[in-house]
Amino acid sequence: MLFSLTPKNKKEELFDREEELEQLKSAIRIYPMVIITGLRRVGKSSLIRVFLNENKFPYVLLDGRVIYERSAGNITRSALVHMLKDEFSKFSRFQKIFSLLKRIRGISIAGNSVEINPSEFDLLTTLERLNGFASKEKTYFVLFFDEAQYLKSYGSRGGKDILALLAYVYDNFENVRMIITGSEVGVLHDFLKFDDYDSPLYGRSVYTLSVKPFNFEKSVEFIKRGLEEVGKELNFVPEEVVRKIDGIPGYLVLFGVKYLETRNAEKALEEVYQTMRVLFEKELAELERKSKRYTMILEFISSGINTWKLLKRYLFARNDPISDSRLYTLLKNLEKMNLIEKTPQGYKIIDPILEEILRR
Ligand SMILES: Nc1ncnc2c1ncn2[C@@H]1O[C@H](COP(=O)(O)OP(=O)(O)OP(=O)(O)O)[C@@H](O)[C@H]1O
Ligand SMILES: [Mg+2]
Repeated sequence: MLFSLTPKNKKEELFDREEELEQLKSAIRIYPMVIITGLRRVGKSSLIRVFLNENKFPYVLLDGRVIYERSAGNITRSALVHMLKDEFSKFSRFQKIFSLLKRIRGISIAGNSVEINPSEFDLLTTLERLNGFASKEKTYFVLFFDEAQYLKSYGSRGGKDILALLAYVYDNFENVRMIITGSEVGVLHDFLKFDDYDSPLYGRSVYTLSVKPFNFEKSVEFIKRGLEEVGKELNFVPEEVVRKIDGIPGYLVLFGVKYLETRNAEKALEEVYQTMRVLFEKELAELERKSKRYTMILEFISSGINTWKLLKRYLFARNDPISDSRLYTLLKNLEKMNLIEKTPQGYKIIDPILEEILRR
């Protein structure tokens, strides 16, 4: 169903994205590492899951955001191992992989449940075996790192241990492929550091795909199709809705779900804002831990105080004599997090829902 709130897994449930699926299909044969970026809720996870399922690639999904939340700040090896254990358990229906895992030191399997003994377990050895398996089966074993920018808080060296692992996999395991996503493009690149001579991944060439929101027509079609699917008729003007929330599928879906509940487009729209406010508040609180100025700057920008000069003046007026270099850094960081962009008219909040929430 189009109007469902979880990431899609099957091709029939995925709207459009034919081209992206084709691109991924050719890229994965050539590149050990594929990077997929795009705004929050634009459909990165859905695209990749459908891609992996369609091509029947065995994979493990390591969700940086989830691991980060579980570890409360600093990602530990044991949090990572815990997640791997859950992922390996999913292979219970894939007997060949299950019996292979069973023979690896540190992994024990009873029935359908997998246990990993962290002190004996070695990820590299495990990947080596999986690589051998994939090669024999003429397929790829895929390591899918979702929201990988969070992995920079792995261990004490800014995630460098993970990068070293990725580089090793890149160079040595021909049948292991890595798919890496991030909604904070700049932060992700700062972490992976392909251009930094000191980085383990230095100089590796990767395939990059940026997932875009749907254009206006497609977004309208999305809403129409979603309603059609459940046999409900349209008693509002979808164009007006799209004008407000744009083409981010996550919002189109949320609107659809709320509309089916309320049968009132205006109410549904309001509920989209309410729901998203809760999520954004969490994200903004996280930002505020880094600097209180972030939310203030975002609020200013949403209300049209959106140039360097204006921002500086308004911060001063709030008794905050911020230095040029500090303001520069904060704005750059917000850009890297994909929250704002620079336009000829000044800075702009990229996400239309966030913009409205801040404005209020
Ligand atoms: N092409 C699509 N067709 C139908 N629904 C989609 C599509 N893309 C995304 N969605 C829906 O939009 C929502 C967000 O999608 P998804 O979780 O895949 O996005 P994401 O970019 O990974 O988001 P996040 O930044 O939250 O991780 C989900 O409800 C999903 O079902
Ligand atoms: Mg996602």
